[in-house]
Amino acid sequence: MIYLDYGATSFHKPDAVHRAVSAAMKLCANPGRGGYCAAMAAAEQVYRCRETAGKLFHCSPEQVVFTSNCTQGLNMAINSLIKPGDRVLISGFEHNAVVRPLYARGITPIVAGRRLFDPEDTRNAWERALQTGVDAAVFTHVSNVFGYVLPVKEMSRLCREYGVPFILDAAQSAGSIPVNLEALGADFIAMPGHKGLLGPQGTGLLLCSRGVKPFLYGGTGNHSQSKEMPEELPERGEAGTLNVPGIAGLEAGMRYLLKNGVERIGRRERAACAMAVEALARQGYRVFAGESQGGTVSVCPPSDCEDVAAALARRGIAVRAGLHCAPLAHESAGTLKTGTLRISFGWDASPWQVQKLVESVIIVNREK
Ligand code: ALA
Repeated sequence: MIYLDYGATSFHKPDAVHRAVSAAMKLCANPGRGGYCAAMAAAEQVYRCRETAGKLFHCSPEQVVFTSNCTQGLNMAINSLIKPGDRVLISGFEHNAVVRPLYARGITPIVAGRRLFDPEDTRNAWERALQTGVDAAVFTHVSNVFGYVLPVKEMSRLCREYGVPFILDAAQSAGSIPVNLEALGADFIAMPGHKGLLGPQGTGLLLCSRGVKPFLYGGTGNHSQSKEMPEELPERGEAGTLNVPGIAGLEAGMRYLLKNGVERIGRRERAACAMAVEALARQGYRVFAGESQGGTVSVCPPSDCEDVAAALARRGIAVRAGLHCAPLAHESAGTLKTGTLRISFGWDASPWQVQKLVESVIIVNREK
């Protein structure tokens, strides 16, 4: 299979990730729940993962809260920062993981910056919206549909300038673009563990610059006499037994990134994506491309995108078609009715993958 759906998950992982998951299942009991060897091994593994995340994202190990996916982290951050009735600013490229938790709180967000691949327009629209008076902002680093890399440094700086607390959704950037909690000054950054960070599914991180409202209430292995959740991080955000094998795999994935360099991996993904952009345009596809693009591209084939994705799947090419759980992004780009076919590259991106994709596209085009 030629796997080009890294926007959904990094299906292929470095071998070290598989080994780490398996070792944790053999050696680790419940972290923080005992002083015997296997419980201590689990606690050490969990702490090592916090330290590795701290190195990658420029924060302390205590600022790293483990979640089961990016959606949980975003819900926790939104629940901690935003109250019903708040005026909340979002970009025009948000995923349902941002939009739905806001609507669930009765909030209709203000949407600013809807032009694709136009960082200047995004920045200007963002500032104009901030001037209207905003209580909080939530924005994605990279559009999961189009690979548009938003100007998050400037958007963050503007939020700080206007005194607006904010949450960054790093679902599609963590592992492909450097993310720095300290430099951005975000209140929270949420990310999955199973995409660019190369960990297993069921893992995620919420980086916190302030306290969280617990999402789950329960045992934390400390302050057991209290009827309330501990005040301190990370325990306040982590009730119940942690996913230790997942965390071990996530740590191995992040160590791979530290060793090989996030910037280098990102360059590789972008280079493959740029090749795909050119090649698919030559095949008569409408291609959404521009400056400020990561390793993901959306295209509209001449026929139905779901049919083309199914035909490609039969030829062993894995891509995702439809609305990608991000109708707002499709509305911004004018593709809400048709959806798009999305090709997303990952850490193993190569010209060979592009060649195989294009060979299959040529055959599928002939069949239609
Ligand atoms: N949000 C993920 C995607 O874009 C699942 O495919």
